[in-house]
Formats: sequence, structure tokens, C-alpha cells
Amino acid sequence: MISLSTLSLGDLSQFDWTACFEHNHHHRLQVDFSKEPELTLQEKRLIFPSIQSFQKGEASEGAFLLRCAKRYADSHQAPEYLEAMKGFVREENQHSGYLKKYMDYHHIPVRSRSFLDSIFRLLRKTGGLKSEIIVLVTAEMIALSYYRALAECTVSPALKSICRQMLKDELLHIAFQSYTLHKLKSCPLEILLRILLMEITMTVVWLSMKNVFLAGGYSYRRLAADCLGYLNQSIKITESGTISS
Ligand SMILES: [Fe+2]
Ligand SMILES: [Fe+2]
Repeated sequence: MISLSTLSLGDLSQFDWTACFEHNHHHRLQVDFSKEPELTLQEKRLIFPSIQSFQKGEASEGAFLLRCAKRYADSHQAPEYLEAMKGFVREENQHSGYLKKYMDYHHIPVRSRSFLDSIFRLLRKTGGLKSEIIVLVTAEMIALSYYRALAECTVSPALKSICRQMLKDELLHIAFQSYTLHKLKSCPLEILLRILLMEITMTVVWLSMKNVFLAGGYSYRRLAADCLGYLNQSIKITESGTISS
């Protein structure tokens, strides 16, 4: 598990998320295919079904999320929050773009529907900003383990570079969303719901992407330990508003 303290963000109440997303936008990963090997059918069968699901999941216009963020920004006189959220949505679409580029290179079609993605989208819209963020950050914490496993089970330098970029960005996203949850305030029942949501979600993801996790060195026990460890770090930020080392 990666510690969120490696981000070295300093005082979160002073951190400029908009500038950070803007900086990332101007320093996008250029995926280098010059050393990309020919993948065997077996390798393709291992990695692409889950890559197709994540590519679909990372792509969203974020209309509902941005509406919720606008409502929050207006009611709290915090226009910078809406700007930061726009930067976040753009970065997620960039993630989808990286994966699409990789799929295009190997002539893998985009999936129009994904069972996991449909469930996530449904859950995200069950309430307002808070429920949307709770579901999003749960998916992002599981994504950290997925991209680590994916990087381990591929020989492709291009895919490894995409996974590295995803890990770097998703770690920041988790800090961003967790700090927002701090500002929105939470109650003990919510913490319990977050744990329950994580346990259900990571089990469903494990069952549907088990091959990639196993090939990447993950047992179910390791996945659960990592995901619950990230959740613990996120809850600490939500409660204290700081990242503890
Ligand atoms: Fe992402
Ligand atoms: Fe993310």
C-alpha cells in the first residue's frame, strides 16, 4: 500500500487543487509506443477485458458531479472548488484517453457498456455531492491496487508508464476527495457505510478481474488489506483534515 503522505501536499486547507490539476494538464504523459512489443493472444486475453472496463469507468462528462459541485461552491462562496472539480473531471477523462490510446494501438474496441461502471454510476447518483464523492473515492482506492497489479502482469513499457501515471494521479484524487469529505462533515454511521461499500465493491471487482490481480501478485487478502488501508487513510483525512505520516 502506498502512503498518502508521500504526496507531500502540506497544509490541505491552503493547497491549491485547481493549480495542481492545471499543472498536470500541461504535463500530460506522452505514451511512447516505440518499444511496444507484439502481445500474445494470451496476454491480450489477460489484460484487455479489465482495461476495457476501466476505460469506460474513467470516461465521464461529470455533468451530475459538476452540478453538485456548483451547488456546493455557490452555497459556500467557494468558486475555487468548482474550478478544481472541473480540473479533476478533465484529468479522469485523460485517464480514459490513455487507456483508449493503448487499446487503439492493439486494435481493441471500446466497450459500450460495463456492468461495474453501470453500478457505480447508479450509486453515484443516489444522493448529492457527498454520496457521489464517497462512491468515486471508493473506486479510486480500488483502482490503485488494480493499476499496480496491471503494471506487474504486463511486459508492455507503454502500459507500465500509463499505470505509473494513474497511480500518481489517483493518489492525489483520493486526497482531494477525502479532504472534500472533511469539509462536508461526516458522522460515525457514514464511516460504517464507507467500510461496507468498500468491502462489497472490492469483492465484486476481485471476482470480475481476478486473473489480472492474481497475475499481478495480488491475493484477495492482499487486495483487501490494501483497499482497507487506503480507506483508513482516507477516513483519517476526512476526520482531521490533514494527511498524517
Ligand atoms: Fe482515474
Ligand atoms: Fe481518479
